[in-house]
Amino acid sequence: MKSSNAVLKKSITFRDKVPEIPSTTYGTFSLYRYPAKFIPQVIAYTLNKYAKKGMTVFDPFAGYGTTGVVSGVYGHDYELWDLNPLLGILHKIATMSLPEYDIKDLLSNMRLSDKEFIPDWSNYGYWFPEEFFPFLFRMWGFYHSLSDDGIKLLLTIPLLKATRTFSYDDIQRQKLSKSPRSKKRINSLLKSNWEETFYKKIEGGLHAVIKGISEHHRLSRGPVKSTVKAGVDTLESVLIEEMDMLITSPPYLQAQEYIRHAKMDLFWLGYPESFTRELSKKEIPYRDVEPFNVKSDVYHTLRKEIGEERPLEIFDSYFQGVLGALTRLQKRISSYLFLFVGPATLWGRPIPIDDIFRQHFMALGWNHECTLIDTIIKRRMSFYKSNPATGVKDRRIRTESLVVLKR
Ligand SMILES: C[S@@+](CC[C@H](N)C(=O)[O-])C[C@H]1O[C@@H](n2cnc3c(N)ncnc32)[C@H](O)[C@@H]1O
Repeated sequence: MKSSNAVLKKSITFRDKVPEIPSTTYGTFSLYRYPAKFIPQVIAYTLNKYAKKGMTVFDPFAGYGTTGVVSGVYGHDYELWDLNPLLGILHKIATMSLPEYDIKDLLSNMRLSDKEFIPDWSNYGYWFPEEFFPFLFRMWGFYHSLSDDGIKLLLTIPLLKATRTFSYDDIQRQKLSKSPRSKKRINSLLKSNWEETFYKKIEGGLHAVIKGISEHHRLSRGPVKSTVKAGVDTLESVLIEEMDMLITSPPYLQAQEYIRHAKMDLFWLGYPESFTRELSKKEIPYRDVEPFNVKSDVYHTLRKEIGEERPLEIFDSYFQGVLGALTRLQKRISSYLFLFVGPATLWGRPIPIDDIFRQHFMALGWNHECTLIDTIIKRRMSFYKSNPATGVKDRRIRTESLVVLKR
């Protein structure tokens, strides 16, 4: 028999629970590779199981906007916030109607265009070989000269992706970084007919976006009301309307540095360097936050164990920042909080973020329904490490938890 204070943890495989969404890449759910993106099935499962008709959904760390896109599909109004301005444009693309388009015309206009756009970015010479500059300036000049918003949106992701493959960024990594692998890719591109390769990528990318948008409309159950605030600091923003459900995945403890990952795209889209620099300063956990009382034994015990100054600063800034913001925002949430967190370590020490969040909100009066644990076996090479005892490569098992709290 369970004791009365036993924590209810259940394992689940979200992607098997939602037959109506055929895959994680269906529709517009993964047109863009946003770091630490939700799989749509997490949100779909949550809505199927807990939402009542007419309930509204709020995500204050929305990233790519998956919470909103899925909520819209299931007929719920929603509000999304994120520090990253990309949310605004990506969400528009993920929910847009297909404009009148002719891919052939678009591509030939692109080839003929002589407009130029040079990003406000002091370091682009580090990220692209000189040979590509005039061509990329022309491609983006064409993009910024487009007057049809629909066509412009359609072209955005293919152009961002093609441009990134023409850069020294190692696309396999989460952070913007050069590697021997990415230098090799660019050297072999330079020896080829790379302009044609670029146009082929754009054409393939346009077909993928159009297919995704069509699939999205087949899933959708009708129009909903949405509010999207991109480029806002959640720690400083006020939620005006009361919402029924908060579903979010806050930044991870070992920050992904989302702005650093996004900045190449932001520069090409026309955001100036000074602006992205200011945004980076607001990212959790590498920022100053107001002192805040975290109501969790696990948190306070770990604080004592950590001891060293720098890890403690990050630990405090993370929990005080995220929980400070969520504590303020939960006052406007009438029914449920769903907090999705991944595995975290701080200087090698595992940090049970889900337990700290659960304890804190229970102390504020929320009821813990359960914590659902999804076990994901990552097959990406970066998660293979040698077992020190055997020297054999083993598979790292990664779990992600959804903490479900009810008012
Ligand atoms: C785990 S990601 C969310 C991913 C999202 N669930 C999705 O499906 O794409 C966390 C997000 O928190 C955002 N973030 C970090 N600091 C922030 C701040 N101060 N205000 C608002 N958003 C912030 C990051 O830009 C990032 O998009």
